[in-house]
Amino acid sequence: MKKMVMRGIGRYLPERVVTNDDLAKIMDTTDEWIRQRTGIEERRWVPEEGNVGTSDLGLEASKIALSRAGWKPEDLDLIIFATLSPDLFFPGCGCLLQSKLGLKSTPAIDIRQQCTGFLYGMEIADAYIKSGYASRILLVGAEVHSTGLEMTTRGRDVTVIFGDGAGAVCLEGVETDENIGLLATSLHAQGDYAETLMTEAPASRNNPRFSKEDFDEGKHFPKMDGRNVFKLAVRRLPEVSQTVLDKAGLTIDDIDMVIPHQANLRINQFFQKAMNIPDERIFNNIQKYGNTTAGTIPIALDEVIEQKLIPKEKATVLFAGLGAGVTWGAMIFRFM
Ligand code: UT7
Repeated sequence: MKKMVMRGIGRYLPERVVTNDDLAKIMDTTDEWIRQRTGIEERRWVPEEGNVGTSDLGLEASKIALSRAGWKPEDLDLIIFATLSPDLFFPGCGCLLQSKLGLKSTPAIDIRQQCTGFLYGMEIADAYIKSGYASRILLVGAEVHSTGLEMTTRGRDVTVIFGDGAGAVCLEGVETDENIGLLATSLHAQGDYAETLMTEAPASRNNPRFSKEDFDEGKHFPKMDGRNVFKLAVRRLPEVSQTVLDKAGLTIDDIDMVIPHQANLRINQFFQKAMNIPDERIFNNIQKYGNTTAGTIPIALDEVIEQKLIPKEKATVLFAGLGAGVTWGAMIFRFM
């Protein structure tokens, strides 16, 4: 049976570092508040000038992933691009990236799914590979949040947590009986909670899609019921992680590294305690990057590999995340 293997991985973070103290100069917040409540020390934002979009960050991460895989863009059968912050309302970032890679007809899919975008993308890639529709897939998770955040005290709860960044992986189907690839997945969505974290305008349900009143009310900025999302995350992450462990017939001791989504360090500490995960087998980098949404998990995985925190062969990793939608999920992936 065909199994999905990772041939190359890359990440790209913009060079511009924005510290908590930088934010305290433009809104009523403090380094102490942000560190205590979220664990974040700094984040990367795209330069203020130059119109750098999500597809540009995705391109940089993709070039690294492709070169590590030893692939040319022409080798790809499919591009899957996960983002909640596309360059344009439409068309999606997948098409823009495809063009930037110099490709002329390779299919490209865009998905949303926010903080679980990478997890949904992995499952879609696996399904394409198993069905025989594609063999070599580039999966990208990327965001430019900074150009859409409210840089005043009104938006401080959301603005301080988000960062820009991209991760990309080259995935390939190989015929093998070995127990590798995606061992188990469990993905979910509950649209009842859509309004707990959303950007309300521009929106097709509004006529016109964007008005002066919307602008004055700041409806083009993300709004979040942070406490509610926090409570959902600390309940759902252990629950869904246990589900994939059970499905794979594994225990947490069989996992070489747990890579949770990076929305809040305190969420991940609750998750770690609930699952009884030792410190050396859970990875956090929110301190440096904030929440990069669809980019988070591939960025973290790339750092885990670079820092040699998992064995070179047959490493087993567990990904888990929850975010807007709400969507949540977990999966266990075993390397070749
Ligand atoms: O990736 C998508 C999923 N998102 C998440 O998982 C985020 C989950 N939620 C969170 O991470 C947290 O709820 C936040 C970090 C967003 C907020 O932390 P909190 O401990 O839940 O704070 P809060 O919203 O209950 O606000 C507590 C106080 C409020 O002031 P009062 O009403 O007590 O006077 C806020 O106005 O903190 C105030 N506050 C801030 N103060 C300084 C909110 N944001 C800030 C800020 N700086 N940036």
